[in-house]
Amino acid sequence: MGRLVVVSNRVTKSDSSNSGSKGGLAVGVTAAMSRDGGLWFGWNGKVESRDEQIPKVEKSGVIEYATISLKPAEYNQYYKGFANSVLWPLFHQRPDLMNYDVSDYQGYLSVNQKMAQSLLPLLKPDDIIWVHDYHLIPMGKMLRDAGVKSPIGFFLHTPFPPFDLLRTVPDYKNILHFLLAYDLVGLQTEADYCGFYMSIGYGLKGEALPGKRYRVGELSCTAGVYPISIETENLRTASKTGESSEEFKRLNSSLSGRQLIIGVDRLDYSKGLAQRMQAYERLLKNYSEFLRKVVYLQIAPISRGDVEAYRDLAQTIDRHVGHIVGGYADFDWMPLRYLTRGFRRNTILAMYNRARVGFVTPLRDGMNLVAKEYVAAQDPEDPGVLVLSHMAGAADELDAAVRVNPYDIDNVAKSLAEALRMPADERIDRWKKMMSVLRANNIHTWQATFLRDLQAAALLRL
Ligand code: G6P
Repeated sequence: MGRLVVVSNRVTKSDSSNSGSKGGLAVGVTAAMSRDGGLWFGWNGKVESRDEQIPKVEKSGVIEYATISLKPAEYNQYYKGFANSVLWPLFHQRPDLMNYDVSDYQGYLSVNQKMAQSLLPLLKPDDIIWVHDYHLIPMGKMLRDAGVKSPIGFFLHTPFPPFDLLRTVPDYKNILHFLLAYDLVGLQTEADYCGFYMSIGYGLKGEALPGKRYRVGELSCTAGVYPISIETENLRTASKTGESSEEFKRLNSSLSGRQLIIGVDRLDYSKGLAQRMQAYERLLKNYSEFLRKVVYLQIAPISRGDVEAYRDLAQTIDRHVGHIVGGYADFDWMPLRYLTRGFRRNTILAMYNRARVGFVTPLRDGMNLVAKEYVAAQDPEDPGVLVLSHMAGAADELDAAVRVNPYDIDNVAKSLAEALRMPADERIDRWKKMMSVLRANNIHTWQATFLRDLQAAALLRL
């Protein structure tokens, strides 16, 4: 196999700090590239006035990183605008939060073109190119138009919406045409796959061919379901390492033996934090046996703080936190701890292992690797319980979790109570089932399967 070239908007050079703030793509791609390496190209996270087209290339271990910065207008139209104020809310079923402006769409196309042009000189003929996520949907077509012959695949980390939602974006036909320019389009779940092929069928009057191939006029591509996963076997050891961190020790001693419920999410409206806090409050109200006996730790690093919907969310969550703390805290018991910063990865994994409940209740989520990591970090003799929203992609595979509807506040509170009371034999039984799924599909099998299918799909084009 040739060199792997990964392209994503965000490039993350180290996985050791600020875990929880960078999202699943960074966790997944870093782990996937850790074995065989390759080139990882994208935005360096900086907004600078001077136009920088030539990427800065640095090598660290087996990975070569090539990054460019964005100009303020590019950042506003492409990142804040079309990517995070149109595609993100839409793909997470929040068209009400969509803020469409045609000039943002133009900016989105320009940045994709700039990224394609910057990447071109770095490419070699036998590369395999793998583009990630909604920021860069047009990039595959732009590389092809520039003469690139290599296999080019695309993986969407977010959900893919049903056709009725997709068509609320005026440019949806272009988005679908861009996807068809890839050799292989990878989606997280069957529901996402269904949204994709229904959109090709209804939106473009496309034709389904055998072997999960789709054709519209001259364009054809293959699509498939590739649920992203984690480095299953390493996480338990990493969680043991994290126990020696100062932060973990302080958390542990402050709990005074109380049961811990943990949530770790970027501060994003898709994560269902307001409903989650209401459910926790309902637990305290309806199940008095847990008063003074539990602590809910919510780590929620600020994310996309300059997008209006995120600022509004931060204020809403502040109110929920204040309400719970004001209503229930005592001199010697703080029922909820809310931290809007990230922590080192190993420290977070140690906290997962300490927590009796992993509380993962998004309203909509592509996969949610926190759910998977929580399971993999557990002690096999005394595992905790995963309370998981069935709206997270991970719920398809982790059917031994306590699955909940995040909108059903009473039921989430009841499920939390069940999780906190669950006897060891049932916890072990559920954990073993989930671990066998995570062992069979880890991050390396995910990468290998996608790249194998990409190469096979590319042969159909030649
Ligand atoms: C999600 C997206 C990623 C994104 C991450 C962090 O996981 O799927 O593409 O990188 O959130 O968001 P940010 O806007 O900070 O890159």
